[in-house]
Amino acid sequence: MDLWINTFYSMVNSLGFPDPIHAILVHIPMGLTIGAFCFAWISALSSWKRLAVTAYHCITLSLVFLLPVIIFGFADWRHFYLGAWLTPIKIKMVLAVILLFLSFVTFLLGFKGKKSSRITLALYTFCLITIICLGWYGARIVYGEQMPPHSNKYPIGEKIFIANCNICHANGGNKISPQNPLRSSDNLNNLKAFISLIRHPVKPMPTFTASRISDQEAKELYDYIVNEVNRPWGTDNN
Ligand code: HEC
Repeated sequence: MDLWINTFYSMVNSLGFPDPIHAILVHIPMGLTIGAFCFAWISALSSWKRLAVTAYHCITLSLVFLLPVIIFGFADWRHFYLGAWLTPIKIKMVLAVILLFLSFVTFLLGFKGKKSSRITLALYTFCLITIICLGWYGARIVYGEQMPPHSNKYPIGEKIFIANCNICHANGGNKISPQNPLRSSDNLNNLKAFISLIRHPVKPMPTFTASRISDQEAKELYDYIVNEVNRPWGTDNN
């Protein structure tokens, strides 16, 4: 089966599309489930009772798209993650089955009469909670491994780094200019040079003014980067 999957992905790749397919398709049932939840509750709480029909149509369409989303989730996992049994993957598999079941039951009970029943409202709500959990663990898979080292000693610096720098400098690298990684910068030799760098960086790195990161915060950030991000791999001084 993996042979088929890999052949398929090399075909898609040769068409100029190298990324996981699940990541694109997943927005369709996600959006529709959120829509179904909103319309069902608006219909229950307001005089727009007919929105219950809209909610029902949303969950029906979501159910239709869930199948390709799950199939490509599986295929992406075999191809891009070599079928590794990562914890978030296991959780997502269980949640996917739960969501499929919940959406199907909602579809079956769906719209009887002119307004949502308590049971269908509860079902729409459970569907929403399940997709939020699915999205959460999906993000863990994509971004989790790129989170910077956790630090007990420099928690403030860690927070500032995650909020301002990590998106371009995950793992001490540089996503935009890989030849200029954060890790090997001469500007990390002393705090003064570091502050001057973030105040007047070379474009396209954005400028961090004192109102965004104060000198005091820059010091916390500097200590975190020098001691944690630039720590040789595999050493742990927490
Ligand atoms: C939008 C992307 C982006 C963000 C966010 C960003 N940087 Fe950069 N950074 C870059 C780029 C691009 C370069 C390479 C610039 C160049 O060509 O010299 C760079 C270079 C650096 C360098 C190396 C400079 C050198 O050559 O000595 C350091 C150190 C650095 N960034 C620190 C930070 C810190 C600290 C933050 C957060 C406060 C941050 N960066 C946020 C894009 C970013």
